[in-house]
Amino acid sequence: MRVVEAFRAAYGASPQTVWHAPGRVNLIGEHTDYNDGFVLPFAVPLGVTAAVTPRADRTIRILSLQSSGEPVTLASHDESKGWTRYVVGVLDMLGDRVAGADIAIDGDIPPGAGLSSSAALEVSVASALNDLHDLGMTPMEIALLSQKAENDFVGMPCGIMDQAASALCKEGHALFLDCRSLGSRNIPLDLASHGLSMLIIDTQAHHEHAGGEYAKRRAECESAARKLGVPALRDVTDLAGALDQLQGDERKRTMHVVTENHRVEALVGLLRAGAVNEIGALLNASHLSLRDQYEVSSPELDVAVEAAIRGGARGARMTGGGFGGSAIALVPVDRLPAVEESVSNAFAEHGFQTPRFLPATPAPGAHRLA
Ligand code: GLA
Repeated sequence: MRVVEAFRAAYGASPQTVWHAPGRVNLIGEHTDYNDGFVLPFAVPLGVTAAVTPRADRTIRILSLQSSGEPVTLASHDESKGWTRYVVGVLDMLGDRVAGADIAIDGDIPPGAGLSSSAALEVSVASALNDLHDLGMTPMEIALLSQKAENDFVGMPCGIMDQAASALCKEGHALFLDCRSLGSRNIPLDLASHGLSMLIIDTQAHHEHAGGEYAKRRAECESAARKLGVPALRDVTDLAGALDQLQGDERKRTMHVVTENHRVEALVGLLRAGAVNEIGALLNASHLSLRDQYEVSSPELDVAVEAAIRGGARGARMTGGGFGGSAIALVPVDRLPAVEESVSNAFAEHGFQTPRFLPATPAPGAHRLA
């Protein structure tokens, strides 16, 4: 394994453990996690591999095969910068339970594609440390610790979806997660037997202000819930009555969150009934709601979705936080070339960057490799 070779070359010994954690796409349930709602992500066959050996002192050394040069050596957590903060954040949240560590990281998730490379990084390192120090954390506890690292150490106010997907997903399944109770179910997602495939369309466009807009949406939802006198937008049962009490952006955000939760439940119902061919309309409806009510889409994502449908996709939507990143399209296998061609042509006509297409078969969650 490449990461093991790199670890040996840098630190002069083999790593004590190696863990892999995947990235994810979200089938449906977008911007619902921090509203105590429902999500339905699945893990993708791309991810981060972490080779780790604990140290007796508090020094942390981190090497990434994706950034050139020598390992970064940190004498204290405050010294961490850039991508190393996702790793150090995990160690920081573990507090006295761990000292320092020697770490080597390898990954194949395109950065900025909205496929949760940061959650994969956190969960791979947290899983390795859990294993090495016999901490006995469950996959959900690993997800929560990783989310806390991102919220409190990195400073990104994300919900629980990405880390939970990376830690809990099962091969061939999507993860139906209730973000309030944290109860979850692995729902079989066998697209191939229905002649279908899920295509990831990486728009290669990433907008700088995404973090600020994310925090703004979150604050708008919390403010709307306060005005409605409910703990979270998840608790809105009378949508029409709620909309009467709200105005402007808060009204639109509420409309999206409440209807999106219903779409997740409807989609799970269709999957359970074996009606995989019918889920496309829900994907399309989710995209329109994210575009028009939640306002987190982008020109590239809209063009990707429209061109995929024109090319023969059964449904398509942006996936993840939005403002660039990736869309997903549910495509009959024999239409894959036509859909890719349709999207590529539309991107060329608009003068966008060339899109990248990735296959998305539901992959396993975090697991030990060596
Ligand atoms: C990002 C966040 C998640 C979730 C999605 C939107 O991926 O990390 O917690 O809020 O956006 O659904």
